[in-house]
Amino acid sequence: MPKVRSKGFSNPAQTWDTRFSTDSYIFGTEPNVWLSQHGHLLQPGSRVLAVADGSPIGVGKAIKLARQADVEVNFQVASAEDFDWKVGEYDAVVAIFIQFADPDTRTTLFKRMTSALKPDGLMLLQGYTPKQLEYKTGGPPLVDHLYTEELLRESFSDMNIVELVSYEDVLREGTQHSGQSALIGLVARKTSGGERQ
Ligand SMILES: C[S@@+](CC[C@H](N)C(=O)[O-])C[C@H]1O[C@@H](n2cnc3c(N)ncnc32)[C@H](O)[C@@H]1O
Repeated sequence: MPKVRSKGFSNPAQTWDTRFSTDSYIFGTEPNVWLSQHGHLLQPGSRVLAVADGSPIGVGKAIKLARQADVEVNFQVASAEDFDWKVGEYDAVVAIFIQFADPDTRTTLFKRMTSALKPDGLMLLQGYTPKQLEYKTGGPPLVDHLYTEELLRESFSDMNIVELVSYEDVLREGTQHSGQSALIGLVARKTSGGERQ
């Protein structure tokens, strides 16, 4: 499989650590609404991979929050390039606002995310659509990092798409995702023989 590359920031970990280097939680402390609304699809005891949820300082804050909530999470700090991607390992993959990925990076990343799922495994993804460039309430100002329904349908064409919806909502995720937002959500299930090549 080709390597995952990151464009956008020359040093993503350092850039994100600078952003996370504040006492406050810049994306808030409440679960993402799209994920909460679909939480019932995750079975208790499921093995779930949440992709790209932090940098060293961001994950440090997440560990603190998990302790406060008495929740055990296996946190791993790794770039998408260096993560030890497994095949057929997870019951679900959750990818909320991972739009740091440029088109080439995204193609490889989506393929790895799909491969990482067990047969019948669930993909839960949320991102911004290009209309978000008008709102400027979160996300990268780079149109080719944003998602359309067509792009996601094509990217996950080997999966059964259970739900794919473009919609608008007011986000209240800390200071970084705040206000009227143009969103897209995907729920897809890997087919039983669905290993992408
Ligand atoms: C917009 S935040 C979303 C975080 C979280 N999923 C959420 O919704 O609150 C994007 C995250 O991607 C991570 N990230 C950026 N570039 C990355 C890369 N090349 N590999 C892995 N993670 C990366 C950052 O550390 C940051 O936490």
